[in-house]
Amino acid sequence: MRKLINHAKSLQGKLTIPGDKSISHRSVMFGSIAEGETRITGFLRADDCLNTIKVMRQLGIQIHDNGDEIIVEGRGMNGLRPSKEILDVGNSGTTIRLLSGLLAGQSFTSVIAGDNSLNKRPMQRVIAPLEQMGAKISGDKDSEFPPLTIEPINELHAIEYEMPVASAQVKSAIILAGLQAEGETVVIEKEQSRNHTEEMLQQFGGSLQIDDKVIRIKGGQTLRGQRIEVPGDISSAAFFLAAGLIVPNSEILLENVGMNETRSGIIDVIKAMGGDITIDMRENRISADITVRTSQLKATTIGGSIIPRLIDELPVIALLATQAEGITVIKDAEELKVKETNRIQAVASQLNHMQANIIETEDGLIVHGGTPLAGATVDSFGDHRIGMMLQVAALLVKEDVFLKEAECVNISYPTFFDEVLNLTGTAG
Ligand code: S3P
Repeated sequence: MRKLINHAKSLQGKLTIPGDKSISHRSVMFGSIAEGETRITGFLRADDCLNTIKVMRQLGIQIHDNGDEIIVEGRGMNGLRPSKEILDVGNSGTTIRLLSGLLAGQSFTSVIAGDNSLNKRPMQRVIAPLEQMGAKISGDKDSEFPPLTIEPINELHAIEYEMPVASAQVKSAIILAGLQAEGETVVIEKEQSRNHTEEMLQQFGGSLQIDDKVIRIKGGQTLRGQRIEVPGDISSAAFFLAAGLIVPNSEILLENVGMNETRSGIIDVIKAMGGDITIDMRENRISADITVRTSQLKATTIGGSIIPRLIDELPVIALLATQAEGITVIKDAEELKVKETNRIQAVASQLNHMQANIIETEDGLIVHGGTPLAGATVDSFGDHRIGMMLQVAALLVKEDVFLKEAECVNISYPTFFDEVLNLTGTAG
């Protein structure tokens, strides 16, 4: 249990946002199956991505960290080696799902497991398409949950697959398997989800065809090691964007925030809510320096195709909505139920403990705005994004706020609490 930083009179200053989690995972995985060396700067050294490094090492890849760069000595598509030990990916859904695609076509057995939260997350969504491609994968409880056992096969074959859920993890698993399959694999997305796998595949010299929501990828391609610069994670920046908007007398500059179009839905929402936000794109056209200032926000409705573009930001957007004028409706977001915890339930129950007025629905939340928040003991349920959202909420509260399982922030943002303290001007 941790006593959170509360009652901030103002947040002032700047901070550099740590590396993008999704891109960090992929940089190490693609680096491993490429030929030659990959050098990665800006890699996110947080538990989830360190687990990806750990399991790729178990699979025979040499990976070094010289403090500046992560260096991956790629061994090509057929260079992975069996691990004697279980591949324990901890809390990381991205690692288990992408790795399933990567290991589905290998000629050895692998077992992938995770922590208590991960072991409750649905895996049929990756197992079903991979089995159609000829993979042999079984999980716990009718193959719904990890641990997953992936057995050796001769070769995968291409499929055409219409995805029933909008999920970049599922899409990526199929693309990674498609790279090893005979023929051309076609993936049809339900809604466009984050496209880091498609971008990175091309960066590593691979090719795929993208036509709106239809992706085609040929098997048997050779990838080559690259230099990768990981931009800051907009999903981590989101907590400070929100804090700067709702804590009085604040102005925060967030440096190097990744601005990929498939991820930047929160910026659209902040603008729709009337937030004071300035975006200065960097020369690389990939990231931006963003300034936010305290704003009187108004309610909005969030649903449809924007949802995958801000799925991880919805907990902190719900917090913003508690401080806006009017009623905000979040819909089409049933995927929130199968994240690190059930985020619909977690957001509503924990913010309501702090005197918010939020109603859970089947596919989202109805948030009544203009509610002052109050002290409470709240629970992150071990979910990093719930924990960080609750710390931002605590900044508005006069009374003490205590957070259970606060150490979960290490999953994606180990320096999070230090950064909050620095901005309050009371550090050291
Ligand atoms: C991710 C995809 C999203 C997101 C997760 C990271 C990725 O999950 O919520 O934090 O890196 O591909 P889904 O694919 O389940 O939507």
